[in-house]
Order: sequence, then structure tokens, then C-alpha cells
Amino acid sequence: MLVPAIKILKSARERHYAVPALNINNLEALKAIVAAAVKMRSPIIVQTSEGAIEYAGMDYLIAMAKVAAKAPIPMALHLDHGKNLKLIKEAIQKGYTSVMFDGSSLPLKENVAKTKQVVAWARAKKVSVEAEIGAIAGIEDFVSVEEKDAHLTNPEQAAKFVKETKCDSLAVAIGTAHGAFKFKGETHLDIERLKKIARLVKNPIVLHGASGVMEDVVKLAEYHGAKLGKARGVLDEDIKQAIKYGVSKINIDTDLRLGFTAGIREAVDQMGNVIDPRKLLEPAIILMREIAMRKMILFKSEGKA
Ligand code: G3H
Ligand code: 13P
Ligand code: ZN
Repeated sequence: MLVPAIKILKSARERHYAVPALNINNLEALKAIVAAAVKMRSPIIVQTSEGAIEYAGMDYLIAMAKVAAKAPIPMALHLDHGKNLKLIKEAIQKGYTSVMFDGSSLPLKENVAKTKQVVAWARAKKVSVEAEIGAIAGIEDFVSVEEKDAHLTNPEQAAKFVKETKCDSLAVAIGTAHGAFKFKGETHLDIERLKKIARLVKNPIVLHGASGVMEDVVKLAEYHGAKLGKARGVLDEDIKQAIKYGVSKINIDTDLRLGFTAGIREAVDQMGNVIDPRKLLEPAIILMREIAMRKMILFKSEGKA
């Protein structure tokens, strides 16, 4: 059964581990992450972006997730970076058990008002709501301390935002960025800022843009022809610190995308005589499963189901 995300996240915050929130667009990725969760006995949050819904169709994604949720682990189906209110409402009505309203690019007043609206819709259906305050972007994108302060999450503002909106969990900006190119120079997260946020916000805290861009996976993809340049991710050490100071949901998309890419490139390279899509996609599923398992160990969610 799919459960509200807050059910899974509360105990993660209390017990100092983080639930992997893994983005999927297709059956292959879903099968990989569910197999990993069952093997590791880890709770998971299966999440789909608005782009994933456009690609696969909301009804297909919900149907697949409902089948996946028969696995003996706690699982939530979450709408990632929901910006379109109509789509968010539809997700709540059709069976998502968690939605994010991403009003981070809106003026604060509008972010508060729209988050409150989503919370009102969600409460009626026992659906959890994640909200965001601050802009998720690499620290190096800011040229001055003032600019950094203006974009990263302000701890006092975060506390006021959660109190006012009554959202269940809060995504914060502490220097991570989406995608495979997170840092130009040294990798660095603002852990001091996170500590201050966590002192004031007792709800589960969410870390976006948290992929590690694992070297071995990048190398495998590049060996088989991918051109990934200076791809750089968040260090495992920073992830451990983030969990220690209150992060209880960690979003991973890029690492799974890299695994998928490496897997299909290797298959196409090595199986020139194969035309069966099941055989060509199998290495990608295996690699994504392994990557998800590594995250469960790093996030300490292993054995918590
Ligand atoms: O945070 C964004 C996720 O990686 C989803 O990306 O909108 O390309 O599906 P997408
Ligand atoms: P990555 O790009 O680091 O995987 O982040 C994914 C994410 O935050 C999805 O919301
Ligand atoms: Zn994100």
C-alpha cells in the first residue's frame, strides 16, 4: 500500500537517517528501485516530476506505483517539483500520497499563499505536502556573500514559512544544484546554515540536487561513448553531515540517469546481435538497482523498513 510520505519521514528525522526519494520516468527505473528497497529493507519515496508525467502519463505512473507498492516495504508516491496547481490537484485526487509545491521562484507572499492552498487540498485526502523556500543552486553561482544569503534558505524565514503554511516537510537550499554539473571548483555545502534551520524547523528537511555523480558510473558511461565533461556531485561526507543535522529525505535523479545511460550504452556496445529490448535494458536495470542500494547504505535507511 502507498503511504503518506510524512509517515515514512517522521521516523527518519527522529532516528537520524534519510529516505531515498528516487525519480522515475519508466517501468525499468521503478523495478530497479523497488528491488533495491526490498533487498535492503529500506523505505522509499518513488517520485515523478511534471516532466515524467508528461512523458509517461499520470495514470500509467500511478498504476505502476500501485503494483510496486505490493512489495513488503513502506512506499510513498510523490509529485516532485509540482508547479502547476491543476496538475497537483489531479495528483492528489488520483492517488499520489505526497506532493511538492515548488513555489521557490515566486515572491514569498505568493509562495506562502499557494503552499497553503495545496496543503488545504492535500489534508482532505491525507496526502503529505513538501514545500520549498530558497533557490536550489550551486554556491559558486553566487558572486557575493550577500547574493548567497539572498538565495540560500534563511533559517528564521524557513521556520515562519513552515508555521504559516503547515506544510509537512521543507526543501531547503544549502548549496546543492540539480543535474550532473553541480560544482565548478571545490564541492561545498553550507552545513552551518542547515544546522540553524534544523534547530528552528522540526519537520523533516529535504535535500534536492543530492546526487553524488559516482566516479565509477561516469567512467563506465564514458568508456562506452558518453561525453560527461566535468560532471561533479555531492560528496558522501557532506551527505552524512546533512543527515546528521536533520535532512530526512534525499532526492536522487541524476545518479539513476547516469546508471541508466551507462547500462544501455554498455549493452548496445556489447550486444551487437541483440534486438530484444528486454535484453538491452537489463544491464541498465541492474546498474540502477545497485546505485539505489548504495544510496540506502549511505543514507542509513537500510534495515529501517
Ligand atoms: O529536480 C528535477 C528532477 O531531476 C526531475 O527532472 O524535470 O527533467 O524530470 P525532470
Ligand atoms: P539530482 O539532480 O542531484 O539527482 O537531484 C534530483 C532532485 O533534486 C529531484 O528533485
Ligand atoms: Zn529537486
